[in-house]
Amino acid sequence: MLNNEIIEKLSENFAGRTEFTNKEVFSVAEEFGMTDKKVFHALAKYPKVARGVYDLSEEFGKPSAVVESKVKPKPVMKQALKGVVSVSNDEVFIPRAMPEFVPWGHFADIVKIIKSRMFYPTYISGLSGNGKTFMVEQAAAKARREFVRVQISPETDEDDLIGGFRLINGETVFQKGAVIKAMEAGALLLIDEIDRGTNKIMCLQGVLEGKPVLIKKTGEVVEPAPGFNVIATANTKGKGSEDGRFSAATVIDEAFLERFTINVEQTFPQIATEKKIVMKHMKKFEVIDEEFADLLVGWADAIRKTFYDEGIDEVISTRRLCHIVQTFSIFNKRDKAVSLCVNRFDDDTKEAFKDLYEKVDATINGEEPEEVPTGSYPSDDDDTWNAE
Ligand SMILES: Nc1ncnc2c1ncn2[C@@H]1O[C@H](COP(=O)(O)OP(=O)(O)O)[C@@H](O)[C@H]1O
Ligand SMILES: [Mg+2]
Repeated sequence: MLNNEIIEKLSENFAGRTEFTNKEVFSVAEEFGMTDKKVFHALAKYPKVARGVYDLSEEFGKPSAVVESKVKPKPVMKQALKGVVSVSNDEVFIPRAMPEFVPWGHFADIVKIIKSRMFYPTYISGLSGNGKTFMVEQAAAKARREFVRVQISPETDEDDLIGGFRLINGETVFQKGAVIKAMEAGALLLIDEIDRGTNKIMCLQGVLEGKPVLIKKTGEVVEPAPGFNVIATANTKGKGSEDGRFSAATVIDEAFLERFTINVEQTFPQIATEKKIVMKHMKKFEVIDEEFADLLVGWADAIRKTFYDEGIDEVISTRRLCHIVQTFSIFNKRDKAVSLCVNRFDDDTKEAFKDLYEKVDATINGEEPEEVPTGSYPSDDDDTWNAE
């Protein structure tokens, strides 16, 4: 086993990490006069996670899922004096498996990619709200791999991604950005909605090549630790959006796109899968109504077909169906839930979606289910604002 001095030094040199290559351990152990041969012997007692990579998490106190809890927290003042800090590592963690998640489509492949621990940049494109982000997060949960998500917007720049100077407790310190934290931890980096970025995110080019990154502001060079990988999601394939539906989608530099090893196209789930998703959300929000679930997925499917035939310019996403379920759990009225959740669309689309729903649901316009009075003043429960 490795002694405490070596473990402490490792945690100091590689903050946030619990997995190390034998070379990293050799270099630290050398300072304490331990030969490579002895280190090799000692390392053999730990779980080996990849060729030449060992999991020393048992030495860091808790074998817990969250990285930050494995590293001794350092007082902020001490960090501030050091000049370069990761103020916190709370962006790096193994996500929790969510009970409402339904695995389907590319999920199994994404899990395999993550488990391979290879550097294998993957680009996932598909319409908004069809479950890309959730799938990657849950794949990391399943593979039990650390995960860092960065959300890209037109405002995102090097300062957000790589890091920048911040004023902490009266001291100006350099705070590492999420990308650097992911690289140091050998985690999976999810670059979410990459096609919303501008050329201010070109600093990611080197990261996408798996190369060490120079933090220009401090001169530090950061090597990606073993296991580091990148998955990006986007609404478009990076060629912009011709129909203007994703007005924020930008054209991604060709060289940038070339860095991704594979592209995965995500569609909406099949009706049966989507019904499972809706039912799981009904369970989560404690409003089980299987008939409503069937109606919702059938309705969304019909809308999507019209959309693909270019009959309408909007679509009902899986996310929107889940919002309808949540709204239904509050108001207990199907038509009200649908109506409130399609209000976000322009008037024509909204009306078309509502009409379509009313046509499939016989309980609407017909005998409505008796409403349970919620208070002693029925007039408070006034729905007239929502009347057409
Ligand atoms: N496979 C799934 N299982 C359960 N819920 C899902 C699934 N896919 C999508 N959802 C629901 O839809 C929402 C939106 O998914 P998200 O991953 O954010 O979409 P995207 O990233 O493609 O825009 C999720 O928060 C979840 O409520
Ligand atoms: Mg997303």
